[in-house]
Amino acid sequence: MTKLISGFSKLTKEEKIKWLADNYLNDVPNAVEIIKNYWHTDTKLQQLHDDFTENTISNFYLPFGIAPNFVINGKAYTVPMVIEESSVVAAASYIAKFWSTRGGFKTKVISTKKIGQVHFTYKGDFKDLKKHFNSKQQDFKTVTADITKNMEKRGGGISSIELIDKTADLEHYYQIHVTFETKDSMGANFINSCLEAIANTWRNDEIEVIMSILSNYVPECLVRAEVSCKVEELGGDNPQNFAKKFEQAVKIAEIEPYRAVTHNKGIMNGVDAVVLATGNDFRAIEAGVHAYASKDGRYSSLSHCEVKNGIFRFWIDLPLSVGTVGGLTKLHPMAKLSLDILDRPSAPELMSIMAATGLAQNYAALRALTTKGIQHGHMKMHLMNILNQMNVTEQEKEQIVTYFADKTISHSAVVEKIKELRNA
Ligand code: MEV
Repeated sequence: MTKLISGFSKLTKEEKIKWLADNYLNDVPNAVEIIKNYWHTDTKLQQLHDDFTENTISNFYLPFGIAPNFVINGKAYTVPMVIEESSVVAAASYIAKFWSTRGGFKTKVISTKKIGQVHFTYKGDFKDLKKHFNSKQQDFKTVTADITKNMEKRGGGISSIELIDKTADLEHYYQIHVTFETKDSMGANFINSCLEAIANTWRNDEIEVIMSILSNYVPECLVRAEVSCKVEELGGDNPQNFAKKFEQAVKIAEIEPYRAVTHNKGIMNGVDAVVLATGNDFRAIEAGVHAYASKDGRYSSLSHCEVKNGIFRFWIDLPLSVGTVGGLTKLHPMAKLSLDILDRPSAPELMSIMAATGLAQNYAALRALTTKGIQHGHMKMHLMNILNQMNVTEQEKEQIVTYFADKTISHSAVVEKIKELRNA
């Protein structure tokens, strides 16, 4: 049996499912039923989702959760989060509330520049190339005028166009390095269209354009989020010791890449959840953020902590190229609703919300790791999930939670205990 096919995209949805079931899912008798169970009953809405990509045969649900009580720059936000991992939304909500009574999150958008490049090769003299580049300035403006017209009305556009000599790194390799302002849109289509127009007027017999594309590395589209309070306001039995251990945990992530990757993954639990909920491009965000974490030559923590003169300060710098207009933000009804929940933020405001959510997540993880350990909360949640599946009574729930307070939780141990209680 061959499992290769030509013309798959031309098949109807039903035919695609049948081909898939016949060729790959013979031993899953209800495969077609599972696929179809996830179809939306509203055919128009289903069609909308089908058209987001190609060869769509069904939908893949992720939970849409809500983390209330974020206070960011004095304004209250309820943050929509799309994530499948248990504890993440609970942790964000808990920490948001905690900091809401300690001044909340303060954020600052440091800059919003985005970059695109025309990569090309040229074998002649650099002085001639430079002269040619200078003479093309008006042409660059003319060929991009139609594309930049609307963006300029919104205060954006092309900020600068530079010629960069990269021949020290790669023979005959140069770039036209373009800086953009894209206001409330992520701007991928805008940037790529401008670059291709520039490339078309730039290429000639001596200049071979290799490619023209935006960069997802956006170290100058940067936001800082911060929380701070007096050490004694951190609460707990020994806030001084907690602050010291917390600071040490951040310092470890700053110098130890194995830890930094996990530390930053926890931050991205929060950031990605908001990126997804608002219909932004999480692959672009992930690529840009992790490149930024390596900007000094070694992968390092995205967050930083300082305990000085009795003040605990914890902050994060994140490069986030996001949009609140255009793309999926308009097309996906849930993404649109997420932006409504967030009071229709501008792109810089959304950068702030994402950074605050990432910082909250990081605070929650480090707080757990440096005190009771991460499994404590996870296992409590796991226990509740098992108890809910087993339809226990409130009284049984109480007895079991008390019993497992100081014991290792496993599915079989919980089931055993329920049986034991019921037999008694
Ligand atoms: C799990 O999704 C995230 C953590 O591992 C983050 C961290 O270790 O800081 C808990």
